[in-house]
Amino acid sequence: MINNKYPVVDKIEHSDNIFELVFSAPYIADQGLPGEFVNVKVNYNLPHPFLRRPFSLHDVSEDGKVSLLIKVVGAGTRKLQDCSLGDEFELLGPVGKPFTIPDIDCTPVLVAGGIGIAPIYFLLKRLVNEDFDPILFLGAKTSGDIIKKKELISTCNVHFATEDGSFAKEGFVSDLLLKHDFNVNEKYYFYSCGPKPMLKKIGEFAIQNNFECEVSLEENFGCGIGACYGCSILTKDGYKRICRDGPVFNIKDVFEFL
Ligand SMILES: Cc1cc2nc3c(=O)[nH]c(=O)nc-3n(C[C@H](O)[C@H](O)[C@H](O)COP(=O)(O)OP(=O)(O)OC[C@H]3O[C@@H](n4cnc5c(N)ncnc54)[C@H](O)[C@@H]3O)c2cc1C
Ligand code: FES
Repeated sequence: MINNKYPVVDKIEHSDNIFELVFSAPYIADQGLPGEFVNVKVNYNLPHPFLRRPFSLHDVSEDGKVSLLIKVVGAGTRKLQDCSLGDEFELLGPVGKPFTIPDIDCTPVLVAGGIGIAPIYFLLKRLVNEDFDPILFLGAKTSGDIIKKKELISTCNVHFATEDGSFAKEGFVSDLLLKHDFNVNEKYYFYSCGPKPMLKKIGEFAIQNNFECEVSLEENFGCGIGACYGCSILTKDGYKRICRDGPVFNIKDVFEFL
């Protein structure tokens, strides 16, 4: 993990409040793994917001680029959305515990809700590159919030759900997954990132069916580097810090505390 200043080399607006920032950050692109994140110093030359903001690695490229997929929710993310190409930001990372790459005889099942697609997309690409045949379930509030539709459709077996029914199946993606016909003779490895009620449903399904399952948890962070205990959550083995011991956890360790 290192802290360095990196320039913004591209900014892609996916919708009114979801955008992608691309940095030229060769060290992070080389070292970063799906599930890991960076702590971004948003207040470059300004006093507010004081704390760094964590964002999952969304994509990396061989020519040293790193993408973050960002949903605007407050002052920090708005400041990032307002930046210009060439602006530099301090990124600390990559940090955190990544997703596990499963045995090759497993079928990965990836479930993303809303901005949870940020780390799941990077994992999907890594799994496809390593010759897995993943299934993706992607849910969003509305059609406009689903990013990279065409690319996802051409990359893997993908099932979409929107809460308002404006694209594909109407309803929650977790309900879509529960209705899916999984083959009892196959080994599945579940991965999920999104709202807690969704993680709970996916986790319960995985546990009942004896499937491996990892979830990426997101909480408000303080320091982001394990020093303040502001991101602690209760687990089977006592309190853990999401920024240091996660954000990826095995569902069996956190299910009853979600
Ligand atoms: C490990 C990790 C990875 C993350 N990856 C991404 C990502 O890839 N893309 C992305 O858009 N966001 C991601 N987040 C969430 C992101 O860090 C927050 O949205 C961001 O810090 C908000 O900053 P802000 O200054 O804009 O909002 P603030 O002004 O700090 O907060 C605005 C509102 O959002 C709520 N909020 C802030 N942080 C979170 C959070 N982590 N979870 C739920 N609610 C929150 C606040 O309580 C408040 O109501 C991640 C969080 C963690 C912990
Ligand atoms: S945010 Fe400070 S310990 Fe995790």
